[in-house]
Amino acid sequence: MKKNPKIIVGNWKMNPQTLDEAKRIARGVKKTAEEVKKVITIMCPPTVFTSAVASLSNNRYLYTGVQNIFTETHGAYTGEISADMARNAGARFVIVGHSERRRMGETDAVVNKKILLALTSGLNPIICIGEENHDRDGHYLSVIKEQVHAALQNVALVDIPRIVIAYEPIWAVGADKAMNAHDVHVMTILIRKTIIDLYKLRKQPKQIHIPVLYGGSVDPTNTAGILTEGSADGLLVGRQSLDPKAFSDILRIANAA
Ligand code: 13P
Repeated sequence: MKKNPKIIVGNWKMNPQTLDEAKRIARGVKKTAEEVKKVITIMCPPTVFTSAVASLSNNRYLYTGVQNIFTETHGAYTGEISADMARNAGARFVIVGHSERRRMGETDAVVNKKILLALTSGLNPIICIGEENHDRDGHYLSVIKEQVHAALQNVALVDIPRIVIAYEPIWAVGADKAMNAHDVHVMTILIRKTIIDLYKLRKQPKQIHIPVLYGGSVDPTNTAGILTEGSADGLLVGRQSLDPKAFSDILRIANAA
């Protein structure tokens, strides 16, 4: 496999409604995911479908992730799921701090706690960051930097190679149009530079590459531009990840990008 493969994540959100349908989507994705050798594909179904989807994946090209974990390891927390449970059900990744969860009250401190727990349990965190508004004064630049700093608080340098950052401008999530590729490029540079400075990575003996993905209205028509001109290391895909044909097209385009 290429040194830095593209990472394409499907965030199924609260879909589909049945196990049969979840298996149908997973099987539809599996074939292409195992063909495209320059791409790592991660399917993130609702937690109840984790085992079923993981039994079809978890090889070096195709993995399963969950969309959330709780901030505690076990105990009296009705309805919650721990990092260990997710790992035990077959998940290898976890989406943390998605804007839809932040909107439900998840703070930077909660996001950081979940990241630390994920790392302890052997889950690789996909950390979502993103500004509410892309304002003309550039305030979003400091918003993004602050989110990166807060998310990575107390994350040890040895764990940095396990981290994936997903930049999702909130205004582009579930919208008609993605961010343009040039602006994605500016943001991926800013995020990489923020982490390089934070961990003084230039001074580390081994080169460490932190994948920075883009998310928000990704489809087969904008995939190539975001990955090439936008220099994103991969994509976090919402709606189009539920359609195995469209998602497979995205995987093939990413493989060729
Ligand atoms: P859409 O691709 O549907 O805009 O969703 C993006 C997203 O939130 C992925 O996590």
